[in-house]
Amino acid sequence: MMSIRIAILVSGHGRGSNMAAIIDACQRGEIDGQVVLVIGTRDEAPALQRATEKGVSTEVVSPSKLGEEEYARRLLQTLGDAQVDLVCLAGFMRLLPPPVVHAYAGRVMNIHPALLPLFGGKGMYGEHVHRAVLESGMKVSGCTVHFVDEPYDTGPIIVQRCVPIEEEDTWETLAARVLAQEHQAYVQAVKLFAQGRLRVEGRRVRILPPAP
Ligand code: GRF
Repeated sequence: MMSIRIAILVSGHGRGSNMAAIIDACQRGEIDGQVVLVIGTRDEAPALQRATEKGVSTEVVSPSKLGEEEYARRLLQTLGDAQVDLVCLAGFMRLLPPPVVHAYAGRVMNIHPALLPLFGGKGMYGEHVHRAVLESGMKVSGCTVHFVDEPYDTGPIIVQRCVPIEEEDTWETLAARVLAQEHQAYVQAVKLFAQGRLRVEGRRVRILPPAP
């Protein structure tokens, strides 16, 4: 497979640590791909600043200014112009418009800071996720990279990593432990995609052996 072209979508005031992990892995050659564009929803996002510092082009496509239909149209146009093979949501706190999900079916990934299908869905992001995990009494948490379908957090699971929950954990200490695993899991999932090794079969994503 040829080197893939990746776009990363961030939103709001996202810090962009997953975005940075993917860009870095591409730049050091671990992923056979290139992040050609980071798309934000507003100018002030620290993630966009960070992308620029890493030499990656950025663009702002603002759903609040454009309205849902025009937002979808502009996203599709921007992704098409950049000839993107894979779209990575990284701290993208909204639903991707259905026309984009359909146009890029099997080519959009998201990362979630818990072990899906638990602790996902609307309103389950950041602090809310980790608090719910602690309150549930579970002894492990983790992160999930999955393909994106229309609803929140329901698409086929590509990679998961676990972390232990410690007696003294607060949502902040748990979030930090999970975040370190997120960066590795997301890089692994994108790398597998770039190698052409992911095959979706119903709810399952089969990881094919490396090409000989
Ligand atoms: C991560 O915890 C990710 O799982 C969630 O949003 C957070 C984004 O963090 N979807 P960052 O912007 O990648 O640092």
